Amino acid sequence: MSKILFVTSEAHPLIKTGGLADVSGSLPAALKSLNHAVRLILPAYPQAKEKAGPLKCIATIRLPGSQEEIKILEGRLPGSRVFVWLVDYPPAFAREGNPYLGPDGHDWPDNPERFALFCRIVNEIAMGRVGLNWRPDIVHCSDWQTGLVPALLSLEAERPATVFTIHNLAYQGMFPAEVFFRLGLPPQLWHFEGLEFHNHLSFIKGGLAYADKLTTVSPTYAREIQSAEFGYGLDGLLRHRAADLHGILNGIDLDEWNPATDPHIEWHYNAKRFSAKQHNKGVLQAEFGLPESGDLLLGSVGRLVEQKGVDLILDIIDQLAELPVQLALLGSGEAHFEAALQDAAARHADKFSVKLGYSERLAHRVEAGADAFLMPSRFEPCGLNQLYSLRYGTPPIVHAVGGLADTVVDATAEAIKQKTATGFCFYYASGDALLRTIGHALALYAQTPKWRSVARTGMAQVFDWRSSARKYLALYKETVKRP
Ligand code: ADP
Ligand code: GLC
Repeated sequence: MSKILFVTSEAHPLIKTGGLADVSGSLPAALKSLNHAVRLILPAYPQAKEKAGPLKCIATIRLPGSQEEIKILEGRLPGSRVFVWLVDYPPAFAREGNPYLGPDGHDWPDNPERFALFCRIVNEIAMGRVGLNWRPDIVHCSDWQTGLVPALLSLEAERPATVFTIHNLAYQGMFPAEVFFRLGLPPQLWHFEGLEFHNHLSFIKGGLAYADKLTTVSPTYAREIQSAEFGYGLDGLLRHRAADLHGILNGIDLDEWNPATDPHIEWHYNAKRFSAKQHNKGVLQAEFGLPESGDLLLGSVGRLVEQKGVDLILDIIDQLAELPVQLALLGSGEAHFEAALQDAAARHADKFSVKLGYSERLAHRVEAGADAFLMPSRFEPCGLNQLYSLRYGTPPIVHAVGGLADTVVDATAEAIKQKTATGFCFYYASGDALLRTIGHALALYAQTPKWRSVARTGMAQVFDWRSSARKYLALYKETVKRP
């Protein structure tokens, strides 16, 4: 049995901005069900405190320079037996809403202080210095907010092994060099093979340079980030660490995302009772104010940022409106994308509808009600929505990069014949390629038996957490062996 400290800045259902929360809410529970001791640690945001309760204070810590004592609160990850430890320091974390952004939509200006403090506390706990009588064998960190943990631990003797997972290399936690000195970080970490990146402090480099093992969330993304195109200047470091870098595909929560039992949808269905899915389409059209029609209804859910290829959708929206296609889109993100999408929806009210905002319930209803799911991401480390779509018999239309390439099989004539096709892929990020691929989906949609066969093949795919958790465990084992 291993003892694993799982370090994250968000975890569903405590707090979520994206897929990292889904992973952090599921993987620890899967590790626990394989009989390992797991503690999930994250900052004590108000929402997290509310949902993980009842809470018990199990330790208090004072760091040099902090205004007041920092408490470690113990609760539970809802729906599991996993203990959650919340780092409670109200000056940094008692803020409602998004964990990274203020109400003006910009990063909190003290993000480096907030997450450096979080990392320092994790370091103390990992080293068994706060009187908890529990020391991990493995500290598993994710994304830039936790990047200083492997760096700090690298300076400790008799430390636990460290694993760092890259969920998205585009977010690096970069700050001007003076922040490094303001934070009072150990000076020996300041060099170009350490936390320095072109005279900036890079939090993510703390993970990339110092963790014993690196992972990312799909095998293809693991290769892509070693290239200049996807590496954001860190590709050299990642090539240097290639022997320690592994791609492990995410799973999904098969209970939460199950069209046969989903409490958020009106009509339950499965691969055998597939025709009931059709009723959800009518419900979704009504909910989005679209006319009830036999058009191919495309659904889309996600953060409205460049990564997700929103601009490709906008590029073709007028041409799309000429086709027997509707689009129901749920998302929130950058103001200019929100405005452009609303504008397009106003121009084509009978074909295209947008709901801006974040709604777990509506996300489930889009997956169930749409005929096909649109995910034209410019890059995608893994992607979860295409996995939800496969399970909901809603073939995904994807740009074949990262995890999308690893999980969706294009409906070529050959793949349809062999019953391996699960969706529609394009290989070059352009509006034209996207439009052609939607055209391909439309042509297949007109042939109901073939369409259903593709949807059913998708539904039969299993992306479960247990098999991913076993891969992480094998990696932990290998990592602990190394001093
Ligand atoms: P990323 O982590 O890059 O945002 P993923 O596909 O891995 O992309 O995960 C996104 C997760 O966030 C999914 O669970 C998705 O349903 C959810 N999500 C994103 N935007 C919204 C939204 N506006 N409303 C509800 N859920 C959303
Ligand atoms: C990131 C990626 C997404 C991935 C998620 C969970 O946010 O953008 O592709 O699925 O993390 O690993």
